[in-house]
Amino acid sequence: MQAKTTRDKLSFEFFDRDKQPTQSNYQQLIRFREAGQLPDDADQQIKDFRDKVARLPLTLEYMWYQDSANDQKTLVGYMMSKYTELLDEEWLTELLAARMSGVTAHELAEKIKARPQYDLGWDKVNRFSWEPDAFGKGVLSLVNIEVARTSGGQGLSDELVTRMLARAYDKFNISYAIAYSRIPQYDRSDLQQYVERQRESDQFHPDWGIRFHQRAGGVLICGVENCAENDPDSDNKGSLVIYDLVELRKQSRI
Ligand SMILES: CC(C)(COP(=O)(O)OP(=O)(O)OC[C@H]1O[C@@H](n2cnc3c(N)ncnc32)[C@H](O)[C@@H]1OP(=O)(O)O)[C@@H](O)C(=O)NCCC(=O)NCCS
Repeated sequence: MQAKTTRDKLSFEFFDRDKQPTQSNYQQLIRFREAGQLPDDADQQIKDFRDKVARLPLTLEYMWYQDSANDQKTLVGYMMSKYTELLDEEWLTELLAARMSGVTAHELAEKIKARPQYDLGWDKVNRFSWEPDAFGKGVLSLVNIEVARTSGGQGLSDELVTRMLARAYDKFNISYAIAYSRIPQYDRSDLQQYVERQRESDQFHPDWGIRFHQRAGGVLICGVENCAENDPDSDNKGSLVIYDLVELRKQSRI
């Protein structure tokens, strides 16, 4: 296992309706997630993945590391995102502008609650999954990301996020991406006050679940109650993060 991952030895690959992963790609992903051997139900998992990638507006991104010591290409990270037409750009522009002009997370959470169609609970997130026709349209929703522990803390998540955003922008003309960040270090205090916290050293959030989004250019909007189903560390809560892809491209960040 590599301690330090050299950037120029990384390569990236996307899979979705345009290019579907092979059986061996899926096996690598399952092995990566299980951190070892393929589980007994690997075939079923592969079938399920195949089905989803073929039918739903999903994109999978793989990050490989070419290890020159043993000439092996190892999967060191992956990310999954999907397109949704359930959120409109005007609404995201409004939330983003409000946040940038200093409106508090508490006020923004209230604003969202007042517009039930945008109430971003887990049910809503789940519904994003069932829009087969949304592929390449609307808003990109960043679903999950994982970097191998042995390669963590080197900003590699940034590489995955940046490439995923750039592809949506260049290939499908997408202007916004959203994410529901985890808050694995949540101390059970008031949620909106929690998400307002900043580290003194760099003004990023002290919770690593939010920080990597901010580093990649995402703007934290407000805390979201009930935005995960099975995340006890975060108490099933999280925060809404918006990425303005037009702005990020202007700044050459994607
Ligand atoms: C979240 C994740 C993708 C970040 O990837 P990464 O490439 O390590 O990200 P970064 O290098 O930008 O690290 C961001 C910061 O979080 C810290 N960090 C990352 N994982 C951490 C962990 N498990 N515990 C404590 N700190 C952690 C890093 O040390 C770094 O700190 P710094 O800002 O002080 O330098 C990775 O930690 C991961 O795969 N986590 C498990 C899955 C997960 O929770 N995914 C997120 C939501 S789907």
